[in-house]
Amino acid sequence: MAFDLQGWMQPHLLRVEQALSDWVDAQAPAGLGEAMRYAVLDGGKRLRPLLLLATAEAVGAEGSIAALRAACALELIHAYSLVHDDMPCMDNDVLRRGKPTVHVQFGQAQALLAGDALQALAFELLTPQDGSVPPTVQAACAGLLARASGYWGMAGGQAIDLAHVGKRLSEDQLRQMHRLKTGALLLCSVQMGVACGADVPDTARLALSRFGEVLGLAFQVVDDILDVTADSATLGKTAGKDAASDKPTYVALMGLQTAQRYADQLAQEAMQALTDTGLPRERLAALQGLAGMVVHRSH
Ligand code: IPE
Ligand code: IPE
Ligand code: MG
Ligand code: MG
Ligand code: MG
Repeated sequence: MAFDLQGWMQPHLLRVEQALSDWVDAQAPAGLGEAMRYAVLDGGKRLRPLLLLATAEAVGAEGSIAALRAACALELIHAYSLVHDDMPCMDNDVLRRGKPTVHVQFGQAQALLAGDALQALAFELLTPQDGSVPPTVQAACAGLLARASGYWGMAGGQAIDLAHVGKRLSEDQLRQMHRLKTGALLLCSVQMGVACGADVPDTARLALSRFGEVLGLAFQVVDDILDVTADSATLGKTAGKDAASDKPTYVALMGLQTAQRYADQLAQEAMQALTDTGLPRERLAALQGLAGMVVHRSH
């Protein structure tokens, strides 16, 4: 029987939404809680948390509280990266997830602080003091998330992006930029999912990392494509922004059709990596479905 991805996603999305709402405190001082909740709740595909939970299940850690905390931590880092990415000093965007961006709604200083506080909260979620997550898992996840968010990950990639407005990058340089600015957090979702499992064989661990790496790159290639092919209402963010800002993208480098073919090729590589894990097919179905969604999404 074909795998019911929607049926799998629904309860997982509910769990993530509820946990995020519980953990991002509306009472944070001076309106900061309101800005943080605005940035995180009511919107977003939650792809990174879903990938993390699907990976945890693939390695036998279903229902794990560590995985739920890691999934939410990752989404908080992602939300923070979007708040800062949209600010006038970066991409200067006014629309995100179908709403005015955080700095438009609350002002630049509050947006900066909301991003900072979301980042800190992510690490607080990973390190509960109630004994619910073993110290080794806490340390592994905190290390993975720190590296993926920092200069060898998202922040480093964002720096390359901004430094190359109006400039041409080679394909290798562009791939490296995308791997860092977007790929790192997607890879991290798979790696933290693995970290929540016990005794994951090396073959599976390595192949899952390869899956996360390839899928992360595919994700940003598709983001570049959608900027050109989709409209703002569907995207929930301003379409056509990359060309208008002269950003280095896959579409700018190789044209729309070649970029699309490249995304398809990466999707196939991702599926192959899943097969290479050697894990039972039924354990991989959700990851397969999510990988398909990354490449065939409309927004
Ligand atoms: C958008 O990410 C920003 C990139 C890293 C390309 P998503 O497309 O996952 O955004 P949301 O979370 O669904 O809003
Ligand atoms: C942003 O890439 C990646 C982040 C780390 C937030 P983009 O600038 O292409 O993301 P969008 O298109 O604004 O969502
Ligand atoms: Mg950007
Ligand atoms: Mg942007
Ligand atoms: Mg984009």
